[in-house]
Amino acid sequence: MSIEVVPLPLPPTADATRLANFGREVRGVDLGALTPEQFREIEELLYKHSALLFRNVDLSPEHQYALTKAFDPAAEIFGHGNKQIEGTKRSILYPTLRGIPRVPQVYLVGNGTVLEHEGIDAATLAHPSHTAWHKTHVPPDAHAAGATRFVRWHMDAALYEFFPSRVTTLYAVRVPEGPPQVVRYDDGTGDELTVPLAATAYVSGRVMFEILPPELKSVAVRGRVKYAPHPYVWISTAKAKSTGLGIETEGLEVPYDQLSPWEESKVQVLPMLWKNPVTGELHLQVHPMTVAEILVDPLLDGAKREGALYPDGAHLTDLQEVRDLLYRMQRPAIAPQLVYPHDWREKDLMLFHNRGVLHSVTGNLEPDQIRLYHQCNLAASDGPAGPTADDLEIWA
Ligand SMILES: [Fe+2]
Repeated sequence: MSIEVVPLPLPPTADATRLANFGREVRGVDLGALTPEQFREIEELLYKHSALLFRNVDLSPEHQYALTKAFDPAAEIFGHGNKQIEGTKRSILYPTLRGIPRVPQVYLVGNGTVLEHEGIDAATLAHPSHTAWHKTHVPPDAHAAGATRFVRWHMDAALYEFFPSRVTTLYAVRVPEGPPQVVRYDDGTGDELTVPLAATAYVSGRVMFEILPPELKSVAVRGRVKYAPHPYVWISTAKAKSTGLGIETEGLEVPYDQLSPWEESKVQVLPMLWKNPVTGELHLQVHPMTVAEILVDPLLDGAKREGALYPDGAHLTDLQEVRDLLYRMQRPAIAPQLVYPHDWREKDLMLFHNRGVLHSVTGNLEPDQIRLYHQCNLAASDGPAGPTADDLEIWA
């Protein structure tokens, strides 16, 4: 059986040139009986195209775990640690994830009450809503008329103790029906994006780097970010920006001494740019909400200093400055024409390169609009590779 690969249907809003390489639908494979050659082909396609869609798939939780693990055979546990979210009720992730008892690496996400599903008698899932944690809200009348927001741009990663997963698998068991909604950016730009109801929005970290001006590419290739300890508890009392791209700086984070005990050795310091293991391309991969500090290496000897930012290096610890710099680097890539909002159908399986894209939930759902997905990502067996010496020579 030969694998057929077709482009994802881009919405009319998309810049088809920039997104030409983003996403593919894969047809003609039985995911339950992949040959090693077929798996290698799929693995390569994933790293080349960042997201792969399989339609009309029947997939048990055991099978989903096995498929996810195949991308990182030494990985064993859920990306945040098995059962760790259940034990951390202050985490912003706690209300949105529910583990499947017999396969603790696979979580239910969605909306509404689900009965007798995969060994769970009853679960009430809450679709993440911007109203729960953005600083400003879409006015109620517009909200009722279908205006929504990107809830939070992120990658799936604990960002403390565990390495970010290579791949996330997201399997649509039930998809709510309803008219499209309009994502508002509400940041003074007038930007808006029409999306299918409860679409998952993706942007490419490769494009995010590619469209930066030279001085920010130089910062990115020299930069590392230090994430806060217990980052999802740290930001649990703070409010997000209206674009869902990071946090407003109002001093509302949980002070470090009020977090559960933590160890400096488990704090994550990661490069801003992650090198794609197949294409060698650089992806700007920063989780914007949870960064506490930025470290920038000095320019190389002999590099052009004119117009350079932080030519002698920097260690930014002021949260406003940290977030302002990241926003300047990341906001261009969430422009409406660079977003791929996936229009889910039941039995869709989306596999995405979690070290190469950011994603966000969108949409407002009522409690009776049932949405049920199985999600799996595994704490990786290694950290992401950063830029090479050659990359520094080219971009710094
Ligand atoms: Fe996610």
